[in-house]
Amino acid sequence: MKIFRNPAGLQKWAKARRRAGAKIALVPTMGYLHEGHLSLIAKAKAKGADEIVVSVFVNPVQFGPNEDYAAYPRDEKADLAKCRAAGATAVFFPTPANMYLDAHSTYVVEERLSQGLCGARRPGHFRGVCTVVAKLFNLVSPDFAVFGQKDYQQAQVIKRMVRDLNFGIEIVVAPIVREPSGLARSSRNTYLSADERARALAISRTLREVKAGRIKTVAAAAKAIARAGLKVDYVECVDAKTLEPRRRIAKGCCVLAAAYAGKTRLIDNVVV
Ligand code: PAF
Repeated sequence: MKIFRNPAGLQKWAKARRRAGAKIALVPTMGYLHEGHLSLIAKAKAKGADEIVVSVFVNPVQFGPNEDYAAYPRDEKADLAKCRAAGATAVFFPTPANMYLDAHSTYVVEERLSQGLCGARRPGHFRGVCTVVAKLFNLVSPDFAVFGQKDYQQAQVIKRMVRDLNFGIEIVVAPIVREPSGLARSSRNTYLSADERARALAISRTLREVKAGRIKTVAAAAKAIARAGLKVDYVECVDAKTLEPRRRIAKGCCVLAAAYAGKTRLIDNVVV
């Protein structure tokens, strides 16, 4: 497994592999890898990639000033071992300084799908995501890139960016991987105390009830999550493709929830 820290080194290698006819997959991550990330690598493998490049970068540009950039969990050694065991062929570990050169002043902004939901609560977040993902796409020129459905809005925004800017890269969205309790796997789960973790289960439980038709409105879903002692950031129902708000929960919708368990912001969603 190759390890790159320098964008130029990665780009040179990826170009050569491409010229040699290799099918290249990119799995962008912020590290502290868990089974959700490993499922993305497995997906890349199953789709027949010759090279699977995993990027591990806690991207400062997608965090707001009062968010958890500094505290975000990092464990390079464990990430390397997990990538190797999962079958990645290259790992990219850049530093903020070599991803964003002095006086970096170019950003990518998607202006429609990124407006609501997490985009409304985390100003600048998707500008940071689109910018770093566009940079990774330019460095690796993958045939396809794999993202997780847990970040549903992110996946839709990236698909739109790829379409609008003609990246010519297939975006593959892999299903949410859950803990046996139902909690969606996330690097941020590591922040949770035992009590917060137990309360956090209300999010996936509620979304399961929504999907089963036993909870019929987003107001009722928000109430159910709040009852467990979580602070609801939002529960919304949108068109699964356009992310336009939908009044009624019905087929073709996605119901998304964000809520705080203590200080930890968790997200989850279900496509109806
Ligand atoms: O989903 C994530 O982990 C990040 O937002 C991503 C796509 C790696 C960009 O930093």
